[in-house]
Amino acid sequence: MLLKYLSNLIFAFSISILMCFSLCGVSQTIRCPIQSLYQFGDSISDTGNAIRIVPLLAASRRPYGETFPGKPTGRWSDGRLIIDYIAMTLGLPLLNPYLDKTASFNNGVNFAVASATALDPSFYLVRGIINPPLPALASQLSWFKTYIRSICSTPTDCADKLNGSLFFVGEFGYNDIYYPYTQGRSVQEIQTYVPLVNQLIINSTRELIQLGVSQVVVPGNFPLGCFPTFLVVAGRNRSTAYDDFGCVKSVNDLTSYENDDRQRALNSLRMEFPNTVILYADYYNAFLSLLRQATTFGFDTENLLTPCCGDDGVYNALLPTFCGGLGVPVCSNPNARIHWDGIHLTQEAYRRMSEIIIRNLGINCTQ
Ligand SMILES: *[C@@H]1O[C@H](CO)[C@@H](O)[C@H](O)[C@H]1NC(C)=O
Ligand SMILES: *[C@@H]1O[C@H](CO)[C@@H](O)[C@H](O)[C@H]1NC(C)=O
Ligand SMILES: *[C@@H]1O[C@H](CO)[C@@H](O)[C@H](O)[C@H]1NC(C)=O
Repeated sequence: MLLKYLSNLIFAFSISILMCFSLCGVSQTIRCPIQSLYQFGDSISDTGNAIRIVPLLAASRRPYGETFPGKPTGRWSDGRLIIDYIAMTLGLPLLNPYLDKTASFNNGVNFAVASATALDPSFYLVRGIINPPLPALASQLSWFKTYIRSICSTPTDCADKLNGSLFFVGEFGYNDIYYPYTQGRSVQEIQTYVPLVNQLIINSTRELIQLGVSQVVVPGNFPLGCFPTFLVVAGRNRSTAYDDFGCVKSVNDLTSYENDDRQRALNSLRMEFPNTVILYADYYNAFLSLLRQATTFGFDTENLLTPCCGDDGVYNALLPTFCGGLGVPVCSNPNARIHWDGIHLTQEAYRRMSEIIIRNLGINCTQ
């Protein structure tokens, strides 16, 4: 009986090791050279789409872009974003936003739009949660379908054109938590949306693969409990529990639950498409490394969880007291800060995160 149990256990164990070798991503590496890069996502990767829809958004004003390129571009940071560092590592020009009709798309397109949720804005509206009606994941996917019709005609032709390209689907999911949480919804309620968010990300990735995409990176969510807006909202609840970094435990547990679920879903997708490179980018732990190695990275350890730009406690990007508003204070050295405006990170934080992400993804395509 015991022997039978043990042999079953060993059998199960070896099967999981075998499965892991073929499916855990160890055998999956990005094929160089990459000639073009495509991005879907939210304000973490928007390089100028949202401000072309709503010109008054904060990212169209100083001090956004003050570190790079020296003026606002629509990036929600003082400078470059993770996708900019990915492009630079691949030897590609920085990705232009899809809505910049004068821009070159020879090396890919950025479809990301600030405020985008994965789930359709109507999903939140019917639940009484307000979410700006900017293009969410499905709309960005439609943009891509329009775009692809302009560069290829048959499925073979498209697969051929997309060979040598790398797709980033996300990060998505930040705003699917941000809008309900900042509007007073409980972590328990938001947790019920998370599997749907991941299903939609996976369904969209599957569609891309069926359209000819052969290499795709799906990032996970950040530990949002370490982000100033979430700390402000959680701070109103006396029973909020914090971890050793001072982050909101329940919110970090929620995003790590989301990431575990997302990785399980990606494993199934790899089984469906064994010839497609499908990688997970661990934004969660890359961000935590910034906190863990703050001193080494030159971050001001007194201000790890406070934004460089903006008044304390302002978490709504539409308020005049948000970063970019008249007379709103900005720290003197954004390079020593992780958080930029309470929602987004500084260029220096994105640069350090990118180094970790690029290493973990095994991107090694110097040209
Ligand atoms: C993509 O390119 C690789 C070599 O770079 C080649 O082996 C493969 O057949 C190509 N796939 C398609 C669909 O063109
Ligand atoms: C994802 O696709 C499956 C299968 O087509 C469908 O049942 C499910 O509703 C989709 N999920 C979402 C969130 O769109
Ligand atoms: C306050 O925090 C506790 C512990 O995280 C949680 O169970 C409760 O739902 C929160 N209350 C409100 C009003 O959000």
